[in-house]
Amino acid sequence: MTTYHLRVNGREHAVDTDPDTPLLYVLRNELQLDGAKFGCGLGQCGACTVTLDGAAVMSCMVPVATVGSRPVGTVEGLGSAKVPGVLQQAFIDEQAAQCGYCIAGMIMRATSLLAHNAAPSDAEIRKHMMPNLCRCGTHMRILRAVRRAADTLKAGGAHAASGKTGGKA
Ligand code: FES
Ligand code: FES
Repeated sequence: MTTYHLRVNGREHAVDTDPDTPLLYVLRNELQLDGAKFGCGLGQCGACTVTLDGAAVMSCMVPVATVGSRPVGTVEGLGSAKVPGVLQQAFIDEQAAQCGYCIAGMIMRATSLLAHNAAPSDAEIRKHMMPNLCRCGTHMRILRAVRRAADTLKAGGAHAASGKTGGKA
């Protein structure tokens, strides 16, 4: 066991665990941040996607020992049920969730896109979102939600990838 100091959604946490423990397990089991989901555990579905230093990563494939001081962002850092973030609101408005299992990962992957590309084309959105899978098949609604969030931001809405996101804050 080693103690790791993690910065998640802008808050510091000390976690005692083994170096190979996936970041996903630390988030869910130690920090009770269960937005990121376990899907395949093999880096193939994206249900576990969070941001690490602003980039989308599949947290089931990230050993906690490799995180270091890089900030981690999870869907919990974007907003709340009462005050959703821009991306969260866009996913609600487009009714993008069916079962919802993939959605936190989808939102975090989109967060990394909008943090680095404020005006993505539809082709860029599609390419960026490609690694994440939705078993319910709501991909078209998910793409529309990301488009809606990008358009909201362009129109002067709150920045989806700053503030409470836990990205490069
Ligand atoms: S659970 Fe991490 S990619 Fe599927
Ligand atoms: S909404 Fe069910 S897996 Fe995407």
